[in-house]
Amino acid sequence: MSELKSKIDLKKLPKHIAVIMDGNGRWAKQHGKPRVFGHKNGVRSVREISEGCAELGVEHLTLYAFSTENWGRPSLEVNALMALLVETIGKEMRTLNENNIRLKTIGDISNLPERSYKALLSGIEATKNNSRMDLVLALNYSSRWEIVQAIKTIAKDVKEGIISEQEITGDLVDNHLTTRGIPDPELLIRTSGEKRISNYLLWQIAYAELYFTDVFWPDFSKEHLYQAILDFQQRERRFGKTGEQVRK
Ligand code: IPE
Ligand code: IPE
Ligand code: MG
Repeated sequence: MSELKSKIDLKKLPKHIAVIMDGNGRWAKQHGKPRVFGHKNGVRSVREISEGCAELGVEHLTLYAFSTENWGRPSLEVNALMALLVETIGKEMRTLNENNIRLKTIGDISNLPERSYKALLSGIEATKNNSRMDLVLALNYSSRWEIVQAIKTIAKDVKEGIISEQEITGDLVDNHLTTRGIPDPELLIRTSGEKRISNYLLWQIAYAELYFTDVFWPDFSKEHLYQAILDFQQRERRFGKTGEQVRK
């Protein structure tokens, strides 16, 4: 077993890890290749990290794969990413089932190209009875979009008398987000050296521990994942209380 892996306290594992997979383009540039080459190599890290999380016993892994803002990229890149999605789901279905991993998505997938949408639906269907870990792909996702959708639904329910204003609580908001049923991420990892959130899970990461690494996503391996988890396990999570209180 890897030395780092053996140091992880399995009783203090984050139940939910969220990742901003960043740096594919710069990784490709470093290798003198077009950006799409970086995305293709990023798939290997998706496989590694999904497997690594499932092996440890992490219950939910949410990967930011395509933001609503990413539509603004050159169409060549957007098309390549969408094609890669279809290809990857087709190829990885067996591995997901062998590893007992259930595929889910957050984001407006109905607005993806039809082939990508259909591939996702069939992947979700084919893995729906798996129970070891949820692999959640954030696709055509942005947190502000999600929050606006939730506000619209809640406003409508109040207007129609389905709920009263008093019934609007944090839990109710949780239940109107695309992540309903999934506990909030305890650890958020962003690769590539950028230190920002880029419209990802804004509500859900209220108390997440943030971990930034300079490693580009295609180079991010299980060992890097273990390092992030070990870092997480050394932190004191206080949730507004004092250190003395939480150490009691
Ligand atoms: C992340 O890598 C993948 C997606 C956003 C789809 P980038 O493509 O953002 O890579 P950089 O940040 O340009 O290096
Ligand atoms: C965030 O990365 C979105 C994904 C990883 C899918 P970006 O590369 O799009 O973020 P910015 O534009 O650098 O903030
Ligand atoms: Mg980027």
